[in-house]
Amino acid sequence: MIRNYRSREEQNYVFLSKDRSFATKVIARTIETHPKVAKATVTLDDSAGKVKVSIRKKGVIELWPSVAEFYVYDSMLYRTMASHQSRNERYFKTFKELLPNKIALEIGPGPEVILSRLAIEAGAKKVYAVELLKDSYIKAKEAVLRYGLEDKIVVINEDVTFVELPERVDYCFSEIVGSIGGAEGAAVIINKVKRLMKDSRCMIPQRSVTKIAAVSLPAAEFFFEMKRIAAHYTKKIFEQTGYPFDLRVCVKHFPNERVVTNSDIFEELNFRYVVDTDTKHDICLTFNQECLFTGFLIWLNLEVSQTHILDTLEDQRSWLPIYFPLFHEGIRAKAKDRLELSIKRRLSKNGLNPDFVIEGELHRQGLPIMAIYYESRHEHKLYCSNQFYGCFFNNWLRENDDEHPETNEPEANVLHAFLTEKLPGLQVPVEIEL
Ligand SMILES: C[S@@+](CC[C@H](N)C(=O)[O-])C[C@H]1O[C@@H](n2cnc3c(N)ncnc32)[C@H](O)[C@@H]1O
Repeated sequence: MIRNYRSREEQNYVFLSKDRSFATKVIARTIETHPKVAKATVTLDDSAGKVKVSIRKKGVIELWPSVAEFYVYDSMLYRTMASHQSRNERYFKTFKELLPNKIALEIGPGPEVILSRLAIEAGAKKVYAVELLKDSYIKAKEAVLRYGLEDKIVVINEDVTFVELPERVDYCFSEIVGSIGGAEGAAVIINKVKRLMKDSRCMIPQRSVTKIAAVSLPAAEFFFEMKRIAAHYTKKIFEQTGYPFDLRVCVKHFPNERVVTNSDIFEELNFRYVVDTDTKHDICLTFNQECLFTGFLIWLNLEVSQTHILDTLEDQRSWLPIYFPLFHEGIRAKAKDRLELSIKRRLSKNGLNPDFVIEGELHRQGLPIMAIYYESRHEHKLYCSNQFYGCFFNNWLRENDDEHPETNEPEANVLHAFLTEKLPGLQVPVEIEL
């Protein structure tokens, strides 16, 4: 039986049953259905007439679409890159070593022409800066005039894979790599510009190595949220494709201790040579702890030169790691269990951006071998195809709905409103103390 309870001060009501532990459990389990709560402990404080709740919040992981592989550049994205000091420093140091008195080509200068300007500052004689997007090209030309560099930087509005230049260049530099190095089409584009160079090995960056490791991000411990700005880019991508789909997602605020295996190579592009766009290789990931294995983390190591390398797991200003969600709740694995995987890479149907398939086996001590299969495609028609994407798009829709309280921080008043929605009136405590 549940009855209303009046406190000694006759102000607050809590509900009680003959079985008090049942009452507290009902409240605790209900609070734990809040998307941001991992664990709730509820006690009744008779003297104060209050329900005391202590909660452990879920870790919050911000999700972003993998924007680089779609042409959704705008001033905010360009500004993020142009003001990324540690990235620009690595380029500048490489330019100072390699470009003095050289003629260079930049693929995709963007509106700020940041890398071409750094190249000239480092001593390059001339740069042909070829930009595909009309808007970015117009702004790039204006910037070059503004900096008085029109006799040093020649801005051209064309697809670099078709452009003809008045002379062959000594070096080609670019930043057309995504969170998966080749996601933006770098392999195809860079293969095609080699015809414009005196020595086709003179590429900056020289190599892109994308890494993979298994991670543990169980749904019970993490809240995956998408901020408005990320939702805005997701919408822009869907406008471009004409339909919503399970796009590659990047994770911000990834807790590094949630990497639970060694890392290995997911994709390797050596731009100094012609890059093979159809590849397959084998890897082995060994668990270093007992955990719930939920998926893979993929991140870029950009070798601007042999000595100037940017690891995007440590430096997340321009690139965020990508998450491949396999098991929403997680699959239990122990230290020394192994993932034996093969990674296939081939171009998607647009002939530019790559698709990947991860296929193999999870070997667990004392348990049957488990098959692992994951496809990561640039574009496809699957939408909400697994639990992760179901929650992801559910939250995404909610983020755009101002009236929905569920994604707010679980403060006392929010939890009260939440319980009011979920429990019969008599069971809702009048006051919650957190
Ligand atoms: C990631 S942004 C980099 C912008 C700038 N270089 C920087 O580092 O801040 C890549 C740029 O390359 C351009 N781009 C992509 N593919 C291209 C192509 N095939 N030909 C010319 N430009 C291209 C895009 O429009 C975009 O402006």
